[in-house]
Amino acid sequence: MSLRGIILAGGKGTRLGELTRVTNKLLLPVGPLPMIYYPLKKLVGAGITEILLVSGTEHIGDFVELLGSGREHGCSLTYLVQDEAGGIAQALGLAERFCAGTPCMVILGDNIFEHSISSLAIGAMNENDALVVLKRVADPKRYGVAQWESGKILSIEEKPEKPKDNFAVTGIYIYPPDVFEVVKTLKPSARGELEITDVNNHYLQQNRLRCRVMNGYWTDAGTPESLAEANRLVTENPPRF
Ligand code: DAU
Repeated sequence: MSLRGIILAGGKGTRLGELTRVTNKLLLPVGPLPMIYYPLKKLVGAGITEILLVSGTEHIGDFVELLGSGREHGCSLTYLVQDEAGGIAQALGLAERFCAGTPCMVILGDNIFEHSISSLAIGAMNENDALVVLKRVADPKRYGVAQWESGKILSIEEKPEKPKDNFAVTGIYIYPPDVFEVVKTLKPSARGELEITDVNNHYLQQNRLRCRVMNGYWTDAGTPESLAEANRLVTENPPRF
């Protein structure tokens, strides 16, 4: 048995304006492929072949049409609908039955990583801790920000006005089976969403949050600027799966 994979592909993509008026952000091209292929290939490359894709009512059919059963990609795909964009943690909460007591690796569909994620997955099956992956960035305000010192996270804040550090929490996470109990305790944030940062802070308080710093490039592709940057990075230096 290995980790279950979860790709979160819901949300409104409003920061991309006209580009996402009639389609989902993850169906937009990044280099030669639709954006969704990158998280999918990362999971499969890491040996994770039981994969759940969560998206909203508007576009879930497009994902089914594009990816089918997953057979062409060497995996088995399950699809679940998130009725409204209630946040990343809400989307994750829908995966409880799919995970069936197995730890999971979660990827935000708009995150593009250069390096393979195989090494993250190794060993995670036997852990009862959560894992977040950090990357030093120039503009931390746009992200969950970890205050990090000598290999330990001291705090995580979601999109802080005054970041205490410049380590972004990237959109790849590993969670133990009790994550669904944690999600059930969450309250919506000021922006009306169940926040993944609150899940991570829960594990931090329990002293069960591990972290790794990512080598290679990483970007999200959720704004016009970061989508252009993702295209540039992928074209100049295709990611490794
Ligand atoms: O990219 C990393 C960042 O992603 C982290 O540093 C932040 O801590 C985390 O909150 C998140 O921030 P964003 O504001 O950029 O997340 P966004 O709302 O763009 O959602 C990211 C993906 O999650 C999106 O491409 C699809 C999925 N999603 C999002 C929401 C709000 C869902 O599946 N359902 C949702 O309801």
